Amino acid sequence: MEKIKEKIRIALLGCGTVGSSVAKILTAQKDILKARHKVELELAYIVDIDFTRAEALDIDKGLFCSDIEKVLGDDSVEIVVELIGGTAIARDFMERSIKAGKKIVTANKALLAQHGNELLALARAHGVCIAFEASCAGGIPVIRALLDGLIANRIDAIYGIVNGTSNYILTAMTIDSLPYTTALKEAQDAGLAEADPTLDVEGIDSGHKLAIMASLAFGKRIDFKKIPVEGIHTLDICDIEYGKELGYVIKLLAIAQRRDKGICVYVRPAFISMEHPLAWVSGPFNAVSVYGHANGHTMYYGRGAGGDPTASAVISDIYQAATGITSTLFTTLNLWPDEAENAIQLSSKDFKSRYYIRLTLEDKPGVLAQIAEKFGKNNISISSVLQQELHPDSDIHDGVPVIITTHPAMEGSVLTALKEVDKLDATKSKSVCIAILDEHVEKI
Ligand code: HSE
Repeated sequence: MEKIKEKIRIALLGCGTVGSSVAKILTAQKDILKARHKVELELAYIVDIDFTRAEALDIDKGLFCSDIEKVLGDDSVEIVVELIGGTAIARDFMERSIKAGKKIVTANKALLAQHGNELLALARAHGVCIAFEASCAGGIPVIRALLDGLIANRIDAIYGIVNGTSNYILTAMTIDSLPYTTALKEAQDAGLAEADPTLDVEGIDSGHKLAIMASLAFGKRIDFKKIPVEGIHTLDICDIEYGKELGYVIKLLAIAQRRDKGICVYVRPAFISMEHPLAWVSGPFNAVSVYGHANGHTMYYGRGAGGDPTASAVISDIYQAATGITSTLFTTLNLWPDEAENAIQLSSKDFKSRYYIRLTLEDKPGVLAQIAEKFGKNNISISSVLQQELHPDSDIHDGVPVIITTHPAMEGSVLTALKEVDKLDATKSKSVCIAILDEHVEKI
């Protein structure tokens, strides 16, 4: 049992949006923390080369430091909070801090998803720990739920909306019928989307978060590189509109499901019914649904990004590290990926789902019969067929859109059928295929 100190000294690495919020709460808003916790947190250093944000928040300039060595050489600093982001400098600073015997708090999902196993092992070898609540879904305490609150459960599935930028864009496309590029511009103007939105809109950020959550949920090592990731950047507004007519809303979902043969982990835009619990999660908000064998469905909702919400999770982690809770969980739980066996990650061809398919076809007799033949041959049962008018904002200008929904089918079979359909003379442009996900059935 660690002896709990009354005062803990902390160094903050990185003073951008989240770092400056952490500094503000630890210093200017110290009274709120003092009223709630007996341990005093003392910010000793803020390491960065640009203090513009901190200066605007009126944070003590005496804390500013541009040399990591000062932190590493100061034995009175127990916790290093890494908020630099990225995988290069952040990894180097984190490894050096661990070797200097510092406990780590980080929000860095990209680093943890790709190198978490090595970093956790390094921390274990040096008798310290890494806390990373802020890495997934910002201010929502979902890591805490997976590690601790749901410990009595065998986790069967996770469904997350974990990228606020993508959810904001999809909400604007759905509610305001904006094409993707207009919705992205709106998100950038609102300060939500980055100038280069690749990590967010291509689903990579969601994949990082999914790798972290799924590894803890299943107590297995998840290989981020093997997670099939699709983003929202190729979505055509017409599919969102046609989906709405069918009673569906589209969401970028990070999904992990326990199956008999292994684990399905993937990120993709998918249709869900407007009645689905995740359907009303709008704008920049995040939500994570977790299905446990004992507790059934629990859902965690809140702000997944932004300075203060993410700082809320960071400071919670600082307290857990300061009071020995993180170390205790790190040594007593069997869920950490550095000690776990590799997960069997199933290929997307093995996924089974209903599908929304949009074909662009020549409008003449006999075409649908050819399509039906390809579907039948691949053992895909059609549930509905609807010929639509061309959508005015769509990129499609030749042929007519035909929307097909299927009964549950293997994804591999659907892709084979669509390859054959796309080769037909009557097909005017490449088919579009979007999974329709039903609500997960509780197994309690
Ligand atoms: N860029 C992320 C998002 C927030 O849009 O949700 C940080 O993880």
